[in-house]
Amino acid sequence: MPTPIIAGNWKMNTTVREAALLASHLRGSLGGVSGVEVVLCPPFVSLAEVARTLEGSPLKVGSQKMHYDDKGAFTGEVSPHMLLGLCQYVILGHSERRRDFAETDAIVNRKVRKAMQVGLRPILCVGELLADRQADREEAVVSASLRASLEGVTASESLVVAYEPVWAIGTGLAATSQQAQVMCALIRRLLSEQFGKEKATAIPILYGGSVTPANIQELASQPDIDGGLVGGASLNAAQFTQIVVTTASVRS
Ligand code: PGA
Repeated sequence: MPTPIIAGNWKMNTTVREAALLASHLRGSLGGVSGVEVVLCPPFVSLAEVARTLEGSPLKVGSQKMHYDDKGAFTGEVSPHMLLGLCQYVILGHSERRRDFAETDAIVNRKVRKAMQVGLRPILCVGELLADRQADREEAVVSASLRASLEGVTASESLVVAYEPVWAIGTGLAATSQQAQVMCALIRRLLSEQFGKEKATAIPILYGGSVTPANIQELASQPDIDGGLVGGASLNAAQFTQIVVTTASVRS
């Protein structure tokens, strides 16, 4: 079983000052927790400050996106090389980027390969829309998206996958632990087909979508769920701490 991961996706929230304060709080409350990898993903402008705040602690830093090219005329974008030294993880293919910034599986695939190549751990997000689930095609949609996002990827060592049903994100309507387990088991099977069973067993698969201190225990107890990608609750130091502490106790 992989070490569980709890990643906080702060999205477009926090000023640099607020981000440093939140990181400092979490360093204090989580610095002594073992058995869970904690990743904080602040906005780009706060990455350096958060990285500095966490220096010497076990907490890791992640970016919320990146471009796939090294440099060039891409106004407003940030390259993988710029992120090296600032963070260890990068969230790729989040549904908000797919929806609002037209990130396709093909683009996400280029980014995943690039992240791995430069030594950043991609947290690859896949998930179905409400309409997909209502039409009973969630497995087909997630399978197609995962396969396309991982096309040509041969090494799995740094890969993290997050199952994030779009209807559960920011809605307060989390998937049930059974629904999440079924989908994460499907993802594990697909990873086995691509990388072999042993390697697939070692890939952390996270659940994301309205994770709270109240539902993390049941979610993290599922055999194929190795932690969470947390949005709203990651902005609250007490709630995020509780989510990490509960995950540590479930998986110890
Ligand atoms: P949420 O967001 O926890 O606010 O639902 C999760 C995510 O978007 O990663």
